[in-house]
Amino acid sequence: MLVSATEMINKAHEGHYAIPAFNTNNLEWTQCILKAVQETQTPVMIQTSESAAKYMGGYKMVVDMVNDLIDSMGITVPVALHLDHGTYDGAKACIEAGYSSVMFDGSHYSIEENIEKSKEIIALAHSKGVSVECEVGGIGGTEDGVTSAGELADPAECKAIADLGVDFLAAGIGNIHGKYPADWAGLNFERLGEIQAAINGKPMVLHGGSGIPFEQTSKAVSLGVSKININTELQLVFADATRKYIEAGKDLEGKGYDPRKLLKPGCEAIVAKAEELCKAFGAAGKAN
Ligand code: 13P
Repeated sequence: MLVSATEMINKAHEGHYAIPAFNTNNLEWTQCILKAVQETQTPVMIQTSESAAKYMGGYKMVVDMVNDLIDSMGITVPVALHLDHGTYDGAKACIEAGYSSVMFDGSHYSIEENIEKSKEIIALAHSKGVSVECEVGGIGGTEDGVTSAGELADPAECKAIADLGVDFLAAGIGNIHGKYPADWAGLNFERLGEIQAAINGKPMVLHGGSGIPFEQTSKAVSLGVSKININTELQLVFADATRKYIEAGKDLEGKGYDPRKLLKPGCEAIVAKAEELCKAFGAAGKAN
């Protein structure tokens, strides 16, 4: 059964480790993530963007898939199903469909509108036992081939959203989605410390977790980050392993074209990478 993320995130915050939040794209991805977290006894957040949920057949389909896999795979570690970068309407729809956690990303609105809409989503989510993440200050990334520098969130704006009773807060500290450019300046720990002080130690979320050196993620965790989002890194290892299989001509040998064989190396790579990250974030062994 899915659980809200509040308890696992608060425990991580107190214990100075971070819950891995892995984006899923399909059945295989979800199975691989669940296999890795069960093996390493890691509490986990499985998250979908709105477009990934649409790709998979809709929010209800995702809720049913994750619940059914927890059941059929005998998963005993805590699992939260979270909406990543939700819109106002998307967050409401996911609360209705059975997600146990939602992000409302109002960072592109004015701070006043972000506050108003966040307040509404927090009240609705909490009335149903669903945890909520909100965002202040955009997270940079690559769009249409242009990579923007990571933004730095304003601590006063972070406090305004934190004071609404959000469970965990995403704030830009120089992090960006996707691959980090070679000249990336790194995380801004000074700003992270200022935000953490302004929001009285509320748990924080690090987006764009793929490819950040572990010394930096560890330092971020020691300064109040309790959830680290990973999407790109699992996609890269999957694509790499699949490419090697095809380049080696294995799909042309026997029934190597069978999707269960074709997708296997990629799936094994996802499991291995997810296990590595669960350990690196200090969350392995923290299921109980
Ligand atoms: P990456 O794709 O860079 O891992 O970022 C994931 C993320 O932050 C999802 O919100």
